[in-house]
Amino acid sequence: GCMLVLAGTVIGGCGTSTQTTSNKLIVGTNATFVPFEFKDEKTQDYTGFDIDLIRAIGKRINKDVELKNVAFDALIPALNTHDIDVAASGMTITKARSEKVLFSSPYYENALAVVYKDGANITSLDDLKGKKIAAQLGTTGADLAHKIEGTTVKEFDHSNEALLELQNGGADATVIDLPVAQFYSTKHPDQHIKFMAYPNTKEYLGLAINKDNKDLQEQINKAIADMKADGEFNTLYKKWFNV
Ligand code: ARG
Repeated sequence: GCMLVLAGTVIGGCGTSTQTTSNKLIVGTNATFVPFEFKDEKTQDYTGFDIDLIRAIGKRINKDVELKNVAFDALIPALNTHDIDVAASGMTITKARSEKVLFSSPYYENALAVVYKDGANITSLDDLKGKKIAAQLGTTGADLAHKIEGTTVKEFDHSNEALLELQNGGADATVIDLPVAQFYSTKHPDQHIKFMAYPNTKEYLGLAINKDNKDLQEQINKAIADMKADGEFNTLYKKWFNV
């Protein structure tokens, strides 16, 4: 036989291309989105619902998950250039994004929220007119903020920076995913954070995959379906959203 072996793994044969048949799954994430993806303060390890989910999927499809921290608006470009195989980043399945990437089956029903400080006199969307809104660059929250009349939108690479801007008084409100708002207000009681659901913003989160990797999409969807059937999905869901 004529094959190339590296550390016990066949990486090619003679005359074949140098491309490796990799057992790695390179996963991009923007780890500033608690409880979906973030870094554990003590260990600095990636953690969160999406991280557990993609690691469980990796096991089921026999691939070693390698995580890369990527700015949220750079995830789709990174998929397109094959710098990453999957984006696990609380990403909303949208029409515009679906033209550029494949999505897994939806794994989370989401909505958006307006986050503000107690006493800010915000009780409806109308109260946001003329206000400064912080949001994460490239997110559905930022898109929505731009649609509110007469607001100044301040965009940040990381979602925690958008929340920090509100905390520091640089913005009157933040538009962000509801479960993230919920978590944040619970975890930071000292900040006196309030939030309200943004009306009619039901959306779904999915894992994003290279447009040309239907195979991987199918494997991931099967793994998700299996996890739902055997209860692992539910266990993870309960762990992070304690329902
Ligand atoms: N769900 C929103 C979107 O897709 C926000 C996702 C932000 N994710 C993150 N890891 N920071 O636009």
